[in-house]
Amino acid sequence: MHWTRSVKSRTSCCALSLLIGAMALAAAGQNTPTPLPNQTAKSPQASVSNQFTTNTGQAKTTTSQSSTKEQATVAASAATDEWWKHAVIYEIYPRSFQDSDGDGIGDIKGITARLGYLEDLGIDAIWLTPMYPSPGIDYGYDISDYTAIDPVYGTMADFDRLVSEAKKHNIRVIMDYVINHTSDQHAWFKESRSSRTNPKRDWYIWRDGKGPGQPPNNWQSWFGHSAWTFDEKTGQYFYHYFYAQQPDLNWRNPEVHAAMDGVLEFWMKRGVDGFRIDAVSRLFEDPELHDDPYRPGFNAYGDRNIEHKYTDNFPEVHDVLKEVRRVVDRYPGNPVLITEADEPNVEELAKMYGNGDEVQLPMDFQIADVNELSAPRFRELFNQIENNTAHGQPEYFFSNHDQPRQWDRYGDGEHNDQIAKLMAVLLLAPRGTPQMYYGEELGMRTTDPARIEDVHDPIGKLGWPKEKGRDGERTPMQWDTSAKAGFTTAAVPWLPVPPSAQKVNVEAESKDPDSILNAYKRLLALRKTDLALRDGTYEAVNEDDPHVFAFLRRSGNETVLVALNMSGKSRTAAFYLAGRGVKGTKLTPLYSAPSSGAQRLDHVVLAPFAAVVGRVE
Ligand code: GLC
Ligand code: MG
Repeated sequence: MHWTRSVKSRTSCCALSLLIGAMALAAAGQNTPTPLPNQTAKSPQASVSNQFTTNTGQAKTTTSQSSTKEQATVAASAATDEWWKHAVIYEIYPRSFQDSDGDGIGDIKGITARLGYLEDLGIDAIWLTPMYPSPGIDYGYDISDYTAIDPVYGTMADFDRLVSEAKKHNIRVIMDYVINHTSDQHAWFKESRSSRTNPKRDWYIWRDGKGPGQPPNNWQSWFGHSAWTFDEKTGQYFYHYFYAQQPDLNWRNPEVHAAMDGVLEFWMKRGVDGFRIDAVSRLFEDPELHDDPYRPGFNAYGDRNIEHKYTDNFPEVHDVLKEVRRVVDRYPGNPVLITEADEPNVEELAKMYGNGDEVQLPMDFQIADVNELSAPRFRELFNQIENNTAHGQPEYFFSNHDQPRQWDRYGDGEHNDQIAKLMAVLLLAPRGTPQMYYGEELGMRTTDPARIEDVHDPIGKLGWPKEKGRDGERTPMQWDTSAKAGFTTAAVPWLPVPPSAQKVNVEAESKDPDSILNAYKRLLALRKTDLALRDGTYEAVNEDDPHVFAFLRRSGNETVLVALNMSGKSRTAAFYLAGRGVKGTKLTPLYSAPSSGAQRLDHVVLAPFAAVVGRVE
């Protein structure tokens, strides 16, 4: 979370709105997604090639002296290592990815139809945000049945088919495990609220008020106002960290553990490869209900600012994580656990790894929340996670379904596409497990609703206009130039297709060798085939440079240098690597944007916002 939503005034690019009138309207009633020119079902071997295309689009062979040897080593390391150590995870917001039945809402069959695209892109796993039955107050994060599929997304048979088809495309499937709360429409909560003596009463957190009309304490919901809602029938308050329609489960009750372990078993048996665990830091609250301390000022909802001191990060969270790990580890295939872990610092984050017995990939929200192109800050944070005391694998990202998209957050309004390519390198060149968000590979923009009447996300309704909600980063995936960007045949998709879809879409970008999409594809391919990028160590260099963030990836005799000019001015950097045991005087680009040739290591010229991934020779 840590949704730093007001970091940038998110006025959308005006040039693009001029295109609205010029939209080609060709929704010729197709019910199946348009096949894309590059949608070929590749064999796994086909992607392990030492070919890459330059920025001008020509195929060119890398200068690797020993490409066959390198391929053999890549194959050997793939056979022994846990898959998630070398994976790139791609987050799909199912509602917005691909509609297959023309109701304006994305669905499971739609995702299955796009597996060819995802394989061709070069990702390894998809994380699906919730598709379980839900009243949809928080768009799926309020679940009323953990072991079923919401009919809006399809059937369980559709889901099983997605998993089996994904396997054929070498794509693993990660589910969302929303553990902190259920929907108030879940059968458990309905029972719980039915009487004070119901056997499920203690599955949720019920307390008496302080007095008439007074909640038990001052705890606030992350989504605004009191975290307590009064229930007339039984005369008590229930606790909810998020909306009132999302009552918190009581993780101090062993029956809740047993029921939720059963949910994990259910999906593991259906062949999923792991879980992303939602809002995990919020599982426990102070049993003595101390008031949270106030901070100066007011938030977007008009509430006094508060520090969530007594509702976050209780040590018991780690017992639950160990339990979840024990359950999934009973299944083969190295299942992975990822946590939404917006921890205040790397020490707290590192605790999520446990002793190798909790989660393998806690998401690094520190990196996600930098929100400015700052070489010193990225250097500091990548160093921190690299050196985490748990020796855990870094997991980092820049965009997700809760945050304005990175194209707007990091763009300067002028060089946004170039900056998007730099961010692609920042995502895909370090060591760790990167996570992408659908449409990031196109440079999709945040497109907020213009009027409060159009807002879907309740936090946008409550916080308007200071908080416009999260609709802006959840707009339909932009596939082509047809009326609804190939997302749906419906006249009205659940969220409007942004005007930028005319230019920013898979079809157009596939044809443009210099597109953001092709930058991602080249980098994703390189990450698979280049041993240093795939397996190599990470070492920051030139640590005093305020503008150029640079680091080495080293494996055996191969050294790759990554240099990112995070400023709008041309910069020259000199790299002296002999002291680190690196031989070589020349930097030969494996990837560069804008395209550049080989340079002397002691005089590397970087255009504004340039990114180079080069072999030291
Ligand atoms: C997580 C989800 C967010 C949701 C919240 C409550 O932060 O990412 O979308 O609103 O949990 O479930
Ligand atoms: Mg649909």
